[in-house]
Amino acid sequence: MANQVKVNTGNGEFEYPVLSGSVGPDVIDIRKLYGQTGMFTYDPGFTSTASCESALTYIDGDEGVLLHRGYPIGQLAEQSSFMEVSYLLLNGELPNKSELDNFTRTISRHTMVHEQLTSFYKGFRRDAHPMAIMCGVVGALSAFYHDSTDISDPVQRRIASHRLIAKMPTIAAMAYKYSVGQPFIYPDNKLSYTGNFLKMTFGVPAEEYEVIPAVESAMDKIFILHADHEQNASTSTVRLAGSSGANPFACIAAGIACLWGPAHGGANEAALNMLKEIGTPDKIQHYIERAKDKNDPFRLMGFGHRVYKNYDPRATVMQQTVREVFDALKVNDPLFETALRLEEIALNDPYFIEKKLFPNVDFYSGIILSAIGFPTDMFTVLFALARTVGWVAQWNEMISDPGQKIGRPRQLYTGPTQRDYVGIDKR
Ligand code: ACO
Repeated sequence: MANQVKVNTGNGEFEYPVLSGSVGPDVIDIRKLYGQTGMFTYDPGFTSTASCESALTYIDGDEGVLLHRGYPIGQLAEQSSFMEVSYLLLNGELPNKSELDNFTRTISRHTMVHEQLTSFYKGFRRDAHPMAIMCGVVGALSAFYHDSTDISDPVQRRIASHRLIAKMPTIAAMAYKYSVGQPFIYPDNKLSYTGNFLKMTFGVPAEEYEVIPAVESAMDKIFILHADHEQNASTSTVRLAGSSGANPFACIAAGIACLWGPAHGGANEAALNMLKEIGTPDKIQHYIERAKDKNDPFRLMGFGHRVYKNYDPRATVMQQTVREVFDALKVNDPLFETALRLEEIALNDPYFIEKKLFPNVDFYSGIILSAIGFPTDMFTVLFALARTVGWVAQWNEMISDPGQKIGRPRQLYTGPTQRDYVGIDKR
């Protein structure tokens, strides 16, 4: 018999089952709470609420652990590839050689976008933020790929998933090309998923583009680090949008909109801008004091996390990758020294120690992306590109769950109670 939790409301005592996952905290199943007690639970920001059952990703924020289908992120980043991790997230197991080859081939066959889609870009201002373009263009995919929008058909769901993963690099690179006024570069399916993205972004028709293996490998690692992160804000947005039966292209566009915010995917852009503002290590203490001042809205961007109360394991890999990219490109960015020093000072400051604020994945990613040549406003786009596989895998998991219901939170209403309308002449 499962454990039970007793709730005494004053109107009686009710028992609720306690459910256990394979690892992680137990959850109290309160689905019958309202029916039995007439009460809701109150949990703004969902800090204590499990919104779904999932077998994709596990995080232990206190220990700094992140597992995809059981595999630690550090091992995947060091030994796997983004295509392999994508297969793992979608299918539950690592592929064998022929499964991986087939999957990679299938994805590469979907990299082109409908030619008519290029007209969408021309409707945007050249100085539009590329995330604004991404929200619009990805949402528009549902107008082009009707044959994969029937969510009750598992084959159509699979095709839509492959299309989204395959087309996202093309769409992201086109957003970049449009902003710099260069022609769009068609996908080159001889290249890897990541090599192809680099070519579509940095290649020009006038010259041969050569993929630098160390940059390709660093970029692939960055994609792996961003592939999924359990029920974060944008993933929950995708699930909530999808719970009404909306098509997958619309759901991923909703996820992109949520990811754009500076408290989520926009943090890598904000973190690099902050490092630029700080500039040299001698200014760090001033900014640390500002971050601690409750009357100052300034926060250390790239620091702190809702779930990690320990070092974000992705930040560890990211920090090492900075050096790899610098070596490969023979560059050095003094902001890296500033970042390292800032981390050291913050990690020894009682405020950050007490609140368990550690660098998150975004703290170092901006430095790498900027060294590779991406402008800051592309950073969140790269995050969206990589997270698409996580969104799609989570969306598939939800749609295939027979117990799936439309997401519909309740509220604690504090507005006026019923009152009579008063005509404008009497107000
Ligand atoms: N700098 C200074 N103080 C901070 C920071 C920070 N970066 N982050 C949290 N705090 C403080 C808060 O002021 C709060 O203090 P209080 O308890 O005295 O009020 C305490 O630490 C707890 O912070 P909350 O905001 O309540 O924690 P929450 O879990 O809601 O927020 C968040 C997490 C949004 C990530 C927050 O740490 C933050 O804004 N960080 C900077 C933005 C950032 O890097 N976001 C990227 C997240 S990772 C990702 O999306 C991939």
